[in-house]
Amino acid sequence: MTQDELKALVGQAAIAYVQPGSIVGVGTGSTVNQFIEALARMPVRVAGAVSSSVQSTERLKQHGIPVLEAGEVTSLGVYVDGADEIDGAGCMIKGGGAALTREKIVADLAGKFVCIADESKKVEVLGRFPLPVEVIQMAVPQVMRRFVAMGGQPAVRPGVLTDNGHPIVDVRGLSITDPAALEREINQWPGVVCVGIFARHRASVCLLGTSGGVQTLAYDAA
Ligand code: A5P
Repeated sequence: MTQDELKALVGQAAIAYVQPGSIVGVGTGSTVNQFIEALARMPVRVAGAVSSSVQSTERLKQHGIPVLEAGEVTSLGVYVDGADEIDGAGCMIKGGGAALTREKIVADLAGKFVCIADESKKVEVLGRFPLPVEVIQMAVPQVMRRFVAMGGQPAVRPGVLTDNGHPIVDVRGLSITDPAALEREINQWPGVVCVGIFARHRASVCLLGTSGGVQTLAYDAA
């Protein structure tokens, strides 16, 4: 199976976690695009979605799925999103599509995070994928110095501003053996809007697309 076919497979599989008539949290990326297609095919559709990006909002609206602001809901049953990497505990690196901050905000509203990913995303230790960090422009040089001090190689993502208007710093060369501790640490740095480590908001379950079909990986509650 191609990577695109695996993405379509897990996008469809995530529908099992979506209650018809409910409000669902929707992430961002090419795998989520497949999930949105599957949402549009539901015989009884969802009542609406809270979206993590302008890109997903447009796609949902194209399918006639109402999009609510995050502030219009107090909680969501489920949030469905992709990942750039996921480890054996369900911790993830996210933000390859620059939507990490809104993704974490919507994930925070949800009782369950369903990660959908093809098997290339599964890793032993997070960090091969450059870690995205959304940073207020004024703090970028200092945040980059801090990453260099911990052995990383940071670079500003060229030509990219997030939906919130901030640059992204991508950090190579980190081996993230304790994702929760590193997420806590980076979150303390002045000017960091959001770090793309999802440990506090790790996946509850991962639907992993493999050549043998969908593998369901369930993780212990945090
Ligand atoms: C968006 O900012 C990311 O967190 C995406 O969830 C991640 O990059 C996965 O994207 P793909 O499904 O396109 O691989």
